[in-house]
Amino acid sequence: MRKTLTLALALAVLGTLPAAAQYVPSEGNLKARQQMQARRLGIFLHWGIYSTYAQGEWYLSTGKLQPDVYAEAAGGFYPARFDAAAWAKAFKDAGAGYVTLTSRHHDGFSMFDTAATDFDIMDATPFKRDVLAELTEAVKAEGMDMQYYYSLIDWIRPDYPKGHSGVAKDSTLANYNHYFDFEKAQIAELMAHHPRALWFDGIWDHEDETPAFPWRMEELYNYIHSIDPDCLVGNNHHRTVLEGEDFQMFEQDLPGENSAGLSEQSVISATLPLETCATMNWAWGYKVADQNYKSVKQIVHLLVRAASKGANLLLNIGPQANGELPAAALDRLKGLGEWMRENGHTVNGCGATGLPEEPWGVTTRDAHHLYLHILDPEKAPATYSFQGRTIPLPKAKADAIDTIVTIRL
Ligand code: GLC
Repeated sequence: MRKTLTLALALAVLGTLPAAAQYVPSEGNLKARQQMQARRLGIFLHWGIYSTYAQGEWYLSTGKLQPDVYAEAAGGFYPARFDAAAWAKAFKDAGAGYVTLTSRHHDGFSMFDTAATDFDIMDATPFKRDVLAELTEAVKAEGMDMQYYYSLIDWIRPDYPKGHSGVAKDSTLANYNHYFDFEKAQIAELMAHHPRALWFDGIWDHEDETPAFPWRMEELYNYIHSIDPDCLVGNNHHRTVLEGEDFQMFEQDLPGENSAGLSEQSVISATLPLETCATMNWAWGYKVADQNYKSVKQIVHLLVRAASKGANLLLNIGPQANGELPAAALDRLKGLGEWMRENGHTVNGCGATGLPEEPWGVTTRDAHHLYLHILDPEKAPATYSFQGRTIPLPKAKADAIDTIVTIRL
């Protein structure tokens, strides 16, 4: 006994004790990671009953609405103009490789057919169509991958223990283990649609808690991978990745940057795909007053700079309650598509070069080419030196979105 203990201790100290919990990704999972990295643009969709209020996806919390009053929006949710095939085509034409839909946001409303609650699109709305299933089919038919966002928060269910966000709740009814079982039931339902990835959010709701809030994330990840080992798991917890996660994500900032104050985590690009999610305007969910959209040029620059860091851009749109994509978003998608048709090969299938970001722009590369992206023509030099070669650079037009110079390797 003593000997066994001593051996175990020695192995543990050496770090060689086989940790039962250590996650080993499947072959298919590693392939899915590569595929994720090869398609640099994803479209993020924040769509739910909050869209009917047109005040962003946090309206229950920011508007301090009583949950039962807020939930009445479900009765009026009838997105008559929703056309999954038209959405999928618009995303495909924009050059996107995948789509991430909010299956359930912090308000707890499920945008899919679920047996785990009646607070879902089939039971609580007059629309009674599984928009998640319809969109999944349409997205896959366009050859893109489908991913689901899933919030770990629930502002309405009594069993979710209230954190920083949301409105007051009867804390005596909180029962995380009960809530966890509900989540598992829903996740099994989502997995039946074979998403490429699940995208979690909300851990920050119990940040700063002592002792740490028992989210049981590893258990949830094991559960997901036991259903489908190839399904990628990511979590918007703003921390370094946890055991069992397959990609690392950043909110409103590129990896290694932190202008929004949400990205202090270190970047582990060597081993995992990276993804930055960003809004086109300010809010994630449809907000009628928020018309301050990034230009096509700004979006392209974000995408190119993401690719130069080996990261994807998950570009958000907040669809309207009537089922339409906002006109400004459609306009940006169109412009993005024009750029991608000509230049998509300089981001898709491309990664970081290891060369530093320059005052004039960035570089990306594939197996045979180095691409110089001149994003700020005023700062562009006349020549560029690379591996002992000096290459004259064309005069970049002042109004060009991105002047690309291709160098054969
Ligand atoms: C934040 C917001 C949430 C949004 C998410 C997207 O966590 O709380 O509303 O869905 O960012 O990254």
